[in-house]
Amino acid sequence: MNRRTRLIFLGLSLILLVFIGWYVKGNFDFLLNDFWFTSGFLLLILLSLIDQPHFSKDSNVFINAVTAAISLLLVDPNNRNWIFWVFLETTFYLAISSYLLMWLREKPLINEHKYVQFFSRINRQIGKPETLFSAFFLWGALKQFGLNSDEFNYLLLYWVIFMIFNLSSIASILNSLFERDSSDKMDNAIGRIFGVQSKNTFLVKLFPERKETIKSFDFVEFTYSIENAKTLRKGLVLDSYLLNQEQWVKVLTTNEINKIFENKSVYNGHTDDIIYKIKEVPETKYLDSFIGIVTERSNIGKIRFIYNSKTEIQEGQLLEVNVGEKKTTVYYQIVEGETKIETLENKNETGLIIGEAIQLGTWSYEKVRFEQFGWVPSINSPVYVAADIPDGEILSNEYKIGEIPSTNFPVIINKELALTHHTAVLGVTGTGKSVFSRNLIREFLRDDDVKVICIDFTGEYKGKFSDLAPAKIVSDENDKKLYGCFEWVASELERFGNQQNKEKLKKADEFISKTLKDSITTFLKNPEARLSIFELPDVSNTASILEYTRQLFKALFDLAKTEKCFGHKVCFVLEEAHTVIPEWNFVGIADKSSQSLLNSIAQIALQGRKYDVGLLVIAQRTANVSKTVLTQCNTIIAFQEFDKTSSEFLANYFGQGIANTLPNLKFRQAIAAGKALKSNVPMIFEVPEIKE
Ligand SMILES: Nc1ncnc2c1ncn2[C@@H]1O[C@H](COP(=O)(O)OP(=O)(O)OP(=O)(O)O)[C@@H](O)[C@H]1O
Ligand SMILES: [Mg+2]
Repeated sequence: MNRRTRLIFLGLSLILLVFIGWYVKGNFDFLLNDFWFTSGFLLLILLSLIDQPHFSKDSNVFINAVTAAISLLLVDPNNRNWIFWVFLETTFYLAISSYLLMWLREKPLINEHKYVQFFSRINRQIGKPETLFSAFFLWGALKQFGLNSDEFNYLLLYWVIFMIFNLSSIASILNSLFERDSSDKMDNAIGRIFGVQSKNTFLVKLFPERKETIKSFDFVEFTYSIENAKTLRKGLVLDSYLLNQEQWVKVLTTNEINKIFENKSVYNGHTDDIIYKIKEVPETKYLDSFIGIVTERSNIGKIRFIYNSKTEIQEGQLLEVNVGEKKTTVYYQIVEGETKIETLENKNETGLIIGEAIQLGTWSYEKVRFEQFGWVPSINSPVYVAADIPDGEILSNEYKIGEIPSTNFPVIINKELALTHHTAVLGVTGTGKSVFSRNLIREFLRDDDVKVICIDFTGEYKGKFSDLAPAKIVSDENDKKLYGCFEWVASELERFGNQQNKEKLKKADEFISKTLKDSITTFLKNPEARLSIFELPDVSNTASILEYTRQLFKALFDLAKTEKCFGHKVCFVLEEAHTVIPEWNFVGIADKSSQSLLNSIAQIALQGRKYDVGLLVIAQRTANVSKTVLTQCNTIIAFQEFDKTSSEFLANYFGQGIANTLPNLKFRQAIAAGKALKSNVPMIFEVPEIKE
């Protein structure tokens, strides 16, 4: 019923009620004194026709319950039988539970927890005026007049008639009788459908003489003539164009939009294909999450969508689209946005924004990760901002390295795989590589079997890890001896072959490897020593340093092969990796020591995982770091990168779409992909704030 019919119905019902009341009672005293009237029928008519003609919200139920409770408390104590107490308890229950529901509820009912939905729906049924006040009326009238009295039967008959006419289906039949040309509806008719795109998007030509304005994000109602089952559709105005002096709008229809109106009709007796503007829209968060619709040239891995929203979005944002008949929720991450101009009938132009988002897949709540989905959404499917998800379980060998930007979707890494299968952390200076890596190292160290050796020529780690009391692998005394030895060997090797003291060289070599092996054994066997930092010593000869480092790696790798590191997992951290493992064309030809160090590290990169020895490679640019080592890193965390070599290298690893975002990543944002990540798709994530 529309407002006008409702008011007429209200007037007639009240007049008739008063008349029947007077007829059965002989006077008008009942208007003030009789419970069946004041607390029953009168409230029934007023509330069901004026206050809650369509449905009762939690707040309505609350008011109904309070009104009912007050009426009951006014009942004379002599008349309070057990039914009275049942009523009173029911009204208290309704008042309290509806009040709680008003506090608890924040989302559309359909998205609420199932208990909230259950109680809210139950309350709406019990607490609506038709139920609550009908019960009061029947009880009051019965009690006052008795079952067999004429008075009761007249009132009962009238009540039955009122209820029948108040049924929404009967009301709408009556309505169509009265208002074939209802001015209310005509005022809101704004245009006529002239085209439809992929079943859910309609093109509408607006009436030039329309009385209502219409703009983007208005809601409309209509029936569509081509459909067999003429279902009533609700739609959202997406866009408007001016063409050949005519104004058009594009209207999207979805089930979600119907749900905003709880699938109820706003107008009755629609003329097919005429679009009616809905003026009173229930409170909804729909427009906060609606982003746009899927457009042409989307594929399984990547969707393209027309951005059409009140909500701002950005690169890295997570979107959701319902795909296929089963409406599976598939998640996509925004990687691109571009503007475009579309020409309408060779004349006018309209500008639009096309976004691109790559598929992350469906979210598995049990496995706490994304899983690839094998199909593409249909064109014009609505695209929404992803809603938060419930927290999932993170296992003890896992670590949450961050979240997808502006969501609570966790990005989880398997610590064991990250360690043993080598991880690279890349990015330009100041993006947070070292902070991230040191945090990861601390996570590695939670496992008692893990030992970490950092090769850090920047001197940064010593201070940051001071709380862990880094151990020295080689004692100061041996350190000096070893350097002496290296320098002697270096100078000896510069002589001509026949002048070298082969005997002494062999001894020196034995001394070096024995000292290092013993030192590493002590380090590995000492439960107190978990972390060691290998720093730039006080010697000027870089060749010796590199040789020293090489021998260290060699000794450790030998121990790994023969002794399995005494049951430990060892992580080698290469900070500023280009100084330790430079790319070959960045190494001087003569720089033999650098080349042989690289070879020994490459050996660990290639075989280390078999012996639980892993690398954590930290570098600014991929260009000057050895690809032999880098390509062995099964997990990559890439912060912002600008240079071409890096983006090419990473595009091979991540795929072009997401690698294109590398230059635009924000501080603390990175792309993660690889073996150690729980979800096996590359994705942009945000490292949380870390306090060191
Ligand atoms: N996750 C984080 N939480 C809080 N602050 C951070 C975080 N990451 C980085 N920072 C801040 O940014 C600064 C630079 O980070 P960091 O030293 O990790 O950069 P980097 O990528 O290693 O740079 P460089 O290549 O120059 O060594 C840090 O000193 C710290 O103050
Ligand atoms: Mg750093």
